[in-house]
Amino acid sequence: MRKIKVAALVSGGGTNLQAILDAGARGETPSAEVAVVISDRAGAYALERAREAGVEALYIPFTDLGREAFEERLIRALQERNIEMIVLAGFMRILSPAFTARYADRILNIHPSLIPSFCGEGYYGLRVHRAALDYGVKVTGATVHFVNEVPDGGRIIMQRAVYIEDGDTPETLQKRVMREAEWVIYPLAVEAVAAKMLNEYGEK
Ligand code: GRF
Repeated sequence: MRKIKVAALVSGGGTNLQAILDAGARGETPSAEVAVVISDRAGAYALERAREAGVEALYIPFTDLGREAFEERLIRALQERNIEMIVLAGFMRILSPAFTARYADRILNIHPSLIPSFCGEGYYGLRVHRAALDYGVKVTGATVHFVNEVPDGGRIIMQRAVYIEDGDTPETLQKRVMREAEWVIYPLAVEAVAAKMLNEYGEK
C-alpha cells in the first residue's frame, strides 16, 4: 500500500522522533513512512537515531545560511524526495509564513501543553512546564497541531491530558508529559493525518 512520505525536522535529542520511528517499526503507522530526518544542527542526536533506524539523515545548517537560504535548501531537499508531510520534532526554528503557507495542512508540530495555555513565542522546553506550575493548573498535557504563521497557532489535531502531581518540578513534569502524552499522541496524529491524505488523494 502507498504511504505518505514524511520528513522530520529536528534540532536536538529526538525522543519524539524515536516514538514515531518505533511506532512505524511496530506497524502502527501504516499510512506514513519517515523518509528523511533533517537537522539544522550538526550534532543533533536525532540524526543518530535516524541512522540507527536506517532512515536518511541530512544536516542543513541554519546559522551560516540565514532563514531564507535555509528554507530554499530545505524546500529543494523535500522536493527531491517527494515529501508530502513534515513533522516538527523538537525543531527549534520558526519557519517563515511563506514556508508554512506552501505546506499548509502538511506540517505537524507537538507542543508540551494543552494549547491555548502556555504556548506561543517564548514558550518552549522547560519554560512551558515552569509556567504551568507557576500558574497552579492541576492538568496540563500535550497538543499536536498543524503549523501556520502563528507560533503554536494552527488547527489542533490531537491532545492528551496529564495530571500535575504534588512535588512536581519543571523537570519531572516535562518527563511525564513526554512519556504519557507526547510519545503517545504524536505517532497517532501522524497516522491520522496521513490516512486522511491518502483517502483524499484516492487513486492519484
Ligand atoms: C518536546 O518537548 C516537544 O514537545 C517540543 O520540543 C521537545 C522536543 O524533544 N516541541 P525531543 O527532541 O523530541 O526529545
